[in-house]
Amino acid sequence: MKIENIHYSDHAKELINSFPKGILLLTKYKENINIMTIGWCLLGYMWNRPIFQTIIRTSRFTFNLIGKSKNFSVNVPLKDKMKEEILFCGTNSGIDINKIKKCRFTISNSQLIDSPIISNCDLFLECKVIAKLPIENINGDNSHENLSDNHFHMMYYGEIVLSYIKGGNR
Ligand SMILES: Cc1cc2nc3c(=O)[nH]c(=O)nc-3n(C[C@H](O)[C@H](O)[C@H](O)COP(=O)(O)O)c2cc1C
Repeated sequence: MKIENIHYSDHAKELINSFPKGILLLTKYKENINIMTIGWCLLGYMWNRPIFQTIIRTSRFTFNLIGKSKNFSVNVPLKDKMKEEILFCGTNSGIDINKIKKCRFTISNSQLIDSPIISNCDLFLECKVIAKLPIENINGDNSHENLSDNHFHMMYYGEIVLSYIKGGNR
């Protein structure tokens, strides 16, 4: 696959606009490779590093893996592609099913991390987890479904060690 390395913010607008539609996080620990759809994400800069943040509910299979793998790839399909796959990976757990096989994804090695990328996508971030933070609901009520104590999330801070897009002349 031909790729072009980019600065992490070069395609920030497309990346951020993809969050509400869902993008794909892949993490690998030993022989376990799993993909899940994420949408609650931030792109930013902290500790003098480019950072990709996402929150993962502790009930996810991905939560189990990412705590051990400590790295993940962010895989973004552009132009509203792969809607079905995004929905599938956001409504099925890797505990029960091999989502790579089911979605017929092609997996390729990353350059700087162990977790591979999904070549079917267009924009990629390779991230190393450098910090995590449990999300605390400061309002003390359970009225917000996604912030209630029953829906505990862990926030992961991934240092973006490499960003690239498919295609390009390099
Ligand atoms: C559009 C969309 C966005 C989602 N964003 C998140 C998210 O940011 N964090 C999260 O924990 N779950 C999110 N989910 C739900 C997970 O993708 C879903 O529970 C998935 O089945 C977990 O897979 P796993 O158990 O294989 O890790 C999202 C689902 C969809 C459809």
